[in-house]
Amino acid sequence: MTFEKRLATRAGEIDIALADALARAASERAGVPPRLAEAMRHAVMAGGKRMRPFLVLETAIMAGGQRDAAMPAAVALELVHCYSLVHDDLPAMDNDLLRRGKPTVWNAFDEWTAILTGDALLTLAFEHLAASRHPAVSDGLRLDLVARLAAAAGGHGMVGGQGLDLEADKLGKPPRPDIAHIERLQAMKTGRLFEVACLMGAMTGGAGRPEALALARFGAGLGAAFQLADDLLDVEGDAATVGKATAKDAAAGKATLVGMMGLEAARQRLAEIERGALGEVESFGPSADVLRETLRFACARER
Ligand code: IPE
Ligand code: IPE
Ligand code: MG
Ligand code: MG
Ligand code: MG
Repeated sequence: MTFEKRLATRAGEIDIALADALARAASERAGVPPRLAEAMRHAVMAGGKRMRPFLVLETAIMAGGQRDAAMPAAVALELVHCYSLVHDDLPAMDNDLLRRGKPTVWNAFDEWTAILTGDALLTLAFEHLAASRHPAVSDGLRLDLVARLAAAAGGHGMVGGQGLDLEADKLGKPPRPDIAHIERLQAMKTGRLFEVACLMGAMTGGAGRPEALALARFGAGLGAAFQLADDLLDVEGDAATVGKATAKDAAAGKATLVGMMGLEAARQRLAEIERGALGEVESFGPSADVLRETLRFACARER
C-alpha cells in the first residue's frame, strides 16, 4: 500500500471515530446547543490530514498494540488540534478566513461561537479520553495518557508556543528573535502535539521506556519539520492547494525560520531536522518504515 493510501484509509477510520465522539456529545443530557454543535462539526469534520492521530495509531501498532486501543487517544489529540486551529484563526490571533478549504469557524459563524467551539472541543477531548474503555488500556495507563496530553496542550506546551508566537507577532518581542527562540517557539506550538502523538502511541502499544522516549523524540523532530514545511508553504504554496491563505507570515511579522534565514537555508535546515529525526528511529529497523514515510511526507508536503 502506498503511504498516501495508508494515510487516507486511516483518516477514514479516524473520521468515523471523530464523528461518533461529536454525535455522542450532542446526545448527552440536554445535548449541545445546535448552533454550537454545528460549529464543532464544521471545525472537525471534512478536511484535515489527520497527521497527529495517524501517528498515534501507527506508533501504537508498530510498538505491538492494537488500533482500537489507541483510537481514543488519537481522537482526543485531533480534537485538541482542531480546537487550536479554531482559536488560531480568530481575528485576535492570526485573523484568517480560510481553513481546510472552507471558511474558518469565526468567519462561517461569529467570534463568540468560535471561542466556545474551541472551548467545547478542548474539553470534549479530555472527556472522550478519560471516559474511554479498552481491555488493553489499564486505568493507570489511561490516566497517564490524559496527563501527557494535557501537558503537551497547555501553557508549557502548544498554548505556550502560541503565546510566544503572538508575542513576537503582535508585541515585537523579543525585538530580534534568534534561531534558538524560533525553534523553541515552534517546538512548543507544533512540536509538542507531534511528540505526544508518538509518545501516546508508544505507551498504548506497550513500548519500553527507552523505545517510548526515542519515539517521542522522533515525534518532536517530525513536528519541527512539519512546522518548517508549513512556513515554506506559506511562502511557496498556493492557497487553493494548501486550503488556507498563504503569503501571510512575512506580512504579519511572524517569527519564522524562513523569514529569518531565507528559503535556501530554511530548506537545508529542514533536511537537517529530517536526518536528526531519522536517527531517532534507526534502531527500530523496518518496523519504523511507516514513521519514516510520514516524516518524508511531512517534509515534502504540498498541503
Ligand atoms: C496546521 O496543521 C497547523 C500547523 C501546526 C502548521 P495541519 O497542517 O496538520 O492542519 P490540518 O489538520 O491538516 O488541517
Ligand atoms: C499554528 O501555526 C500552530 C497551532 C495552531 C498550534 P500557524 O498559525 O502557522 O498554522 P496555520 O498556518 O494557521 O495552519
Ligand atoms: Mg498561528
Ligand atoms: Mg495560523
Ligand atoms: Mg502557518
